[in-house]
Amino acid sequence: MDVFVIEGGRKLAGTLRINGSKNAALPLLAASLLTDEPVTLRDVPDLSDIRNMERLLGELGVEIESHNEEENALSTTRLRVVDQSEFHARYDIVRTMRASICVLGPILAKRGQVRVSMPGGCAIGQRPVDLHLRGLEALGAIITLEGGDIVAKSPHSGRLIGDTVFLGGPFGSTVLGTANVMSAATLAQGTTIIECAACEPEIVDLANMLIAMGAQITGAGSPRIIIEGVETLGGVDHVVIPDRIEAGTFMCAAAITNSTLTLTNCPLDAMMSATDRLEAIGVHVDPTNQRSTLDPLRQTCTISTSGKLKPVQITTQPHPGFPTDLQAQFMALLCLADGNSVVTEKIFPERFLHVAELTRMGSSIHKHGTTAVISGVKQLTGAPVMASDLRASAGLVLAALASQGTTVINRVYHIDRGYERLEDRLASVGASIRRMNEKETTPIGFMTE
Ligand code: EPZ
Repeated sequence: MDVFVIEGGRKLAGTLRINGSKNAALPLLAASLLTDEPVTLRDVPDLSDIRNMERLLGELGVEIESHNEEENALSTTRLRVVDQSEFHARYDIVRTMRASICVLGPILAKRGQVRVSMPGGCAIGQRPVDLHLRGLEALGAIITLEGGDIVAKSPHSGRLIGDTVFLGGPFGSTVLGTANVMSAATLAQGTTIIECAACEPEIVDLANMLIAMGAQITGAGSPRIIIEGVETLGGVDHVVIPDRIEAGTFMCAAAITNSTLTLTNCPLDAMMSATDRLEAIGVHVDPTNQRSTLDPLRQTCTISTSGKLKPVQITTQPHPGFPTDLQAQFMALLCLADGNSVVTEKIFPERFLHVAELTRMGSSIHKHGTTAVISGVKQLTGAPVMASDLRASAGLVLAALASQGTTVINRVYHIDRGYERLEDRLASVGASIRRMNEKETTPIGFMTE
């Protein structure tokens, strides 16, 4: 397995482009199952989660070709359904990526039946899918659990039937659950109302693509989405929205190293809760063009700090609240703030695996249930640490960039799930970060002489 070896204390400088969003691209790829026409997606990031989804779609009869050779041109992914006889998303793929669940709605709506392995939990929590199933049952699906698989059939193996469904759970709405029900409803008979829908920008991007394919959807981005079912959907050529979580991660990288970075293709309009907290911490996010002249989801901005980081309170919430996917990165930043910060995790109560590793690097964090109190320290120190889940690992990279000495981050395959060539991109703005095979480092995680 690969590790990252990071020499901390370097200032960063230069420009980074924000890639297409992983969490938008996954349901967009799944939506190609809804049509017999060709679908082209641009700026799909090159990540292991994306490759897993493409492998799954290949098994479900989708022909895929990707091109990203041309310098400065957006990558192109062309998809076309060539065989609709398969409807089983097998365990060995679903278990490696629980987001495979987002093929459930599209296959059921298009093929009348679907079998998807029940996704397991993961490092950040149990990850139930009861709301997905509630939503599809509301559209008439007959759902049973057989041998660890979700088996769903449309009534009389025909079309789903539009209805009203409440998708709220104990932690608010469900992003992929909303994607599943909204996608399925596009081909249902009649009107579907999704109450307590997820408002995330990735849902809006999916709705925009579905509308371009001929779906009739209003209200995406609000808690109430209304879908008028149609008989068929056509093809589309769609550009994936930029990744607001990657953007927030790079903003924290500039802040934690007291550097100035320019970000391009940055979805500032989709990350006001994060930039609000950055400004409160003393980090300046300055758009370099007038908002009105540019797509507010694809702006250029400069990140800078006054050198002093102020403590703040952060509570993760559904969008437009502070995103849980930036909690670990901001916690790493707050380890160096001048005072005590409080971070409360309301979406995934167990999402604190980064705390123990940050503590190994000299931070002072005390967790009480779903709240952590971070007492700022003057300096973090490099250490061998263990990546656990995608965003916790990103938090460790940020801490390592600001630490005195060498950090070795083990199991970086977690990072490769959500950040494309992270080491190359950070090195391009001055970080000392290298990918090595773990065999090249000593058992305690440092490099052999
Ligand atoms: C999406 O996961 C994202 N993944 C996650 O990002 C993100 O953390 C999450 O939304 C919340 O914003 C993708 O988009 C691929 P949820 P999703 O269903 O849709 C509970 C990353 O790092 N819940 O919105 O699976 C659930 O347990 C990943 O990029 C139910 O109770 O998350 C959680 O507490 C990690 N029943 C809350 O709702 C259900 O049926 C939100 O989960 C579904 C969810």
